[in-house]
Amino acid sequence: MEYNRQDLIQIAYEAKKYSYAPYSGFHVGAALLCTDGTIFSGCNIENAAYTPSNCAERTAIFKAVSEGYSSFAAIAIAGDKEEYLAPCGVCRQVLMEFCDADTFEVILAKNNTDYQLLQLRDLYPYAFSQSDLISHKIC
Ligand code: THU
Repeated sequence: MEYNRQDLIQIAYEAKKYSYAPYSGFHVGAALLCTDGTIFSGCNIENAAYTPSNCAERTAIFKAVSEGYSSFAAIAIAGDKEEYLAPCGVCRQVLMEFCDADTFEVILAKNNTDYQLLQLRDLYPYAFSQSDLISHKIC
């Protein structure tokens, strides 16, 4: 679908402002575009017990799914790094659950105008998915 990538990146940077990252000091924002044009943003949310922490990407996806949205076109990810920020393995797996790997776009932002564009398929090849479960189902 047609959309403005820089606008999505801008929303990801705005979401980063709400990042709660007192343990890592690593602040991340994400903006998830639904196929109907709705945008959900998210930030990383850390916890003193560490493992309950949530990445910005999953915050955005869980917000969307919990409000009835499950068809997605793209996500922009913005961090503090001076390099392109790629999603962690867990977030790739969660994206794979809901997104069409061959059309969904992952935008790795370095700043507001400099970004790298990837297809989810290239970011997460050989993913484990629902179809793996179905092919092994014993009826
Ligand atoms: N983090 C994200 O939110 N997204 C990424 O793509 C990479 C990592 C968060 C998790 C944790 O709060 C902090 O960044 C350091 O790993």
